[in-house]
Amino acid sequence: MSKQFDVIVIGGGPGGYIAAIRAAQLGFNVACIDEWKNAKGGPALGGTCTNVGCIPSKALLQSSEHFEHAGHGFADHGIKVSGLELDIGKMLARKDQVVKQNNDGITYLFKKNKITSFHGRGSFVKAAEGGYEIKVAGAAEETIVGKHIIVATGSNARALPGAAFDEENILSNDGALRIGAVPKKLALIGSGVIGLEMGSVWRRLGSEVTVLEALPTFLGAVDEQIAKEAKKAFDKQGLKIELGVKVGEIKSGKKGVSIAWTNAKGEAQVLDVDKLIVSIGRVPNTIGLAADAVGLALDERGAINVDGDCKTNLPNVWAIGDVVRGPMLAHKAEEEGVAVAERIAGQHGHVNFNTIPWVIYTHPEIAWVGQTEQQLKAEGRAYKAGTFPFLANGRARALGDTTGMVKFLADATTDEILGVHMVGPQVSELISEAVVAMEFKASAEDIARICHAHPSLSEATKEAALAVDKRTLNF
Ligand code: FAD
Ligand code: NAI
Repeated sequence: MSKQFDVIVIGGGPGGYIAAIRAAQLGFNVACIDEWKNAKGGPALGGTCTNVGCIPSKALLQSSEHFEHAGHGFADHGIKVSGLELDIGKMLARKDQVVKQNNDGITYLFKKNKITSFHGRGSFVKAAEGGYEIKVAGAAEETIVGKHIIVATGSNARALPGAAFDEENILSNDGALRIGAVPKKLALIGSGVIGLEMGSVWRRLGSEVTVLEALPTFLGAVDEQIAKEAKKAFDKQGLKIELGVKVGEIKSGKKGVSIAWTNAKGEAQVLDVDKLIVSIGRVPNTIGLAADAVGLALDERGAINVDGDCKTNLPNVWAIGDVVRGPMLAHKAEEEGVAVAERIAGQHGHVNFNTIPWVIYTHPEIAWVGQTEQQLKAEGRAYKAGTFPFLANGRARALGDTTGMVKFLADATTDEILGVHMVGPQVSELISEAVVAMEFKASAEDIARICHAHPSLSEATKEAALAVDKRTLNF
């Protein structure tokens, strides 16, 4: 007799493990199947995010930022550093330790919530009495049955045709996070989120970094004014970003990688580098899920087809996170996981797609929520804009970190906040205030009238809200 569960979650990334925990909190008997293997072949819960995504990239961003500050930033504060050395082995080991702490944290949470954890690949066998039969192929093979199935199988890095990842010379996000020696020359294809974050890490550690981007505009999804300000800062740092390029043949050999490309003027170029990171987006992952076995429908991109509530075409089969439509973000996956568990329990789980924040953890950081100015213009919506530069913020001056600004976009008539865009110090934290405000349908004036601590970076948020009504106090 197969083990029977109320809910089986396939995938233990931020979507899956959070869905499992919420379902267990709601009183269900829950199993979670995850196939990720750590270096020793054991389980490593947390998916892409914990193992080769959000967490290790932020660990390296932090370490490399410390290195850059020690090398170039401290002198301004009257601190002299001599004999600065980089121990890349230690830096990578620390990053691995941070990952392990997160893996272990999820294992602990599963125990605490009495979730049955299976290490192996989960695949559909057939619809069965009492739900669906799922095969677990790990060290051993067994079949379990779940009344509800939540698919949270995530995504994989997209490869360039003719340049398969070997994780030695041509790297995905995985290899990009464990380069054992700082490459003298590094190329990245794609100046999206990974391109900018990983490009920043290795530039700070000493690589000469070139980023080749197909689109003629830099960070097209970001508010233009903010993207322009960020580009200025990256140019100054020496991050070489080539826009409007066409990548041609890529040759990989003992000496590194040779990339043929054409610049925006149509001139043929060749770039020889030690390593190449390909960061041109990610593809939904349904490999090995045997979606066909039960007739689970995918869309033309290979993502699992879901409605606004994460329901698939099959009764009691749900899908969340990177494997479905919408932004590929850990917090979006988590919110969907919570909402689905609550819907299974007959509650009214809800995800507001209009208030999902985005953060790019470069220096300066870039963060936003809601609509951009170019989107509002395209919609023909009447709006007011207010900006405030960190240059005029006391705390930013004290930090010695005055690049960037906060920008508010509000409805011209009602003053409702439609979007908030930031580039500057610690805006990954500042953006939360804007998310809360938008969730509560606040007006720019609401933020402008709230007392913000002085001196704090958050005063730039208040001042930008005041700027919507053309009444900044400190600029
Ligand atoms: P995943 O995290 O991909 O987890 C899916 C899990 O399912 C994996 O463990 C996989 O092994 C397992 N699996 C797949 N198929 C099966 C199967 N058949 N059986 C059993 N197990 C299976 N997002 C942010 O919000 N903030 C960030 O700072 C950020 N940084 C990132 C940095 C990098 C370098 C990358 C690559 C991504 C980053 N992301 C970030 C995106 C984020 O990692 C994803 O959006 C998030 O991990 C998606 O969660 P998920 O649960 O849908 O899938
Ligand atoms: P991305 O979608 O952010 O950027 C891909 C870039 O590659 C785009 O600018 C695109 O125009 C460009 N591109 C595509 N094909 C190309 C080609 N042939 N030649 C040159 N350029 C090409 O994807 P990325 O950076 O791979 O990241 C994947 C996803 O992971 C992100 O979209 C995001 O959802 C998630 N992520 C989130 C992070 C965060 O929240 N801080 C950090 C890193 C990743």
